[in-house]
Amino acid sequence: MADNTRLGLAKNAKRDEFYTQYSDIEAEMNAYVEYNPDVFRNKTILLPCDDPEWSNFTKYFANNFERFGLKKLISTSFAKGSGNLQLTLFEMESPLYDEELHDTHGKLFTLTHDTNGSGSIDSDDIEFSGYLKGDGDFRSDEVRALRDESDIIITNPPFSLFREFLCWIMEANKKFIIVANQNAITYKEVFPLLKENKMWLGQGFKSNVGYFSAPMYEDYATAGQHKEGYIRVSGVMWFTNIDLSKRHKFLEMDTLEHNLKYNKKLRKKLESEYGIIEYPHYDNYNAIEVPFTECIPSNYNGVMGVPITFMDKYNPEQFEIVWQASGNTRASAPKSVLKELNYTKHDEDRGGCSVVHGKRTYGRILIRLKKGV
Ligand SMILES: C[S@@+](CC[C@H](N)C(=O)[O-])C[C@H]1O[C@@H](n2cnc3c(N)ncnc32)[C@H](O)[C@@H]1O
Repeated sequence: MADNTRLGLAKNAKRDEFYTQYSDIEAEMNAYVEYNPDVFRNKTILLPCDDPEWSNFTKYFANNFERFGLKKLISTSFAKGSGNLQLTLFEMESPLYDEELHDTHGKLFTLTHDTNGSGSIDSDDIEFSGYLKGDGDFRSDEVRALRDESDIIITNPPFSLFREFLCWIMEANKKFIIVANQNAITYKEVFPLLKENKMWLGQGFKSNVGYFSAPMYEDYATAGQHKEGYIRVSGVMWFTNIDLSKRHKFLEMDTLEHNLKYNKKLRKKLESEYGIIEYPHYDNYNAIEVPFTECIPSNYNGVMGVPITFMDKYNPEQFEIVWQASGNTRASAPKSVLKELNYTKHDEDRGGCSVVHGKRTYGRILIRLKKGV
């Protein structure tokens, strides 16, 4: 079964119990700290949907508390999450431990200072601050209040509630770094934020493939791709509104003529799909189809449809996002944009997907080069 399909199933079945590796968190956070060494200084970071005994987010930020100059770390767990179900010495040895509340209530952990007198602040100083009034749902009033108290929200949230989770962050106007499925790019709640440069993609997982610890789930990766103890999930990304250098990197491009003449991958694709070596024009949009991000022509001034993974290379100084061509474009795009794109309804477009020679393409982002770049 394809990884994306499995992720879709995970989403439908609300299989949200998979845990991010320490090394992946570290690699991602390094990108922000390299860009701005003070990015976390004097900040309160909230790690919701988490649990320090189960998740590496709390461990990572606790271990780097002093280096980053953090003000406060807050971590909350969800009662129904498997991390919460495990009873650990950490909780049991606390005077706040309550057997009954353990099963039904979320937990609150904080870190602000050197609690054990070791002379430094690290994960040994995390304090179990007691049980939440409810189950730790991020939508509860008490976790909402913790959100409001914080400067930055960082986590791998439940994928099945991703839309709600992002809205929950945006309504409080907070900074964030969160893990998501790449398909979220096209969600009608997400895409406008990307288009308006209110959020962007983070450094990312290697080839957009993540290995997550998920003791409860079976891994369907092929033998060559399987890693013991982990599930392999393709199409995972980090979304953020904190700046990093990747976002300012210019994509190297070749001219339209050179791409058509020398790019073997492009030639093969155009030849096999359309039988002619030229960038095809869509049937329903005034734009051309560019099947690979690497083949975006440097000298085409009109609108181009590119794969959604283009967002991983998107530099707002180089490109303008006009809109997306997807199943919700007709309903969600402003009339002025549809007019600008000269959109005409097509029998095959299922609400606005791009169509070439009567055939729907994969979801596309409609972009154009910025003038003078
Ligand atoms: C993808 S896991 C990630 C866990 C952890 N943040 C990490 O990356 O290691 C998402 C977590 O969110 C929890 N969760 C599910 N629904 C939730 C909700 N409504 N509020 C808070 N947490 C929730 C799940 O139990 C699960 O542990």
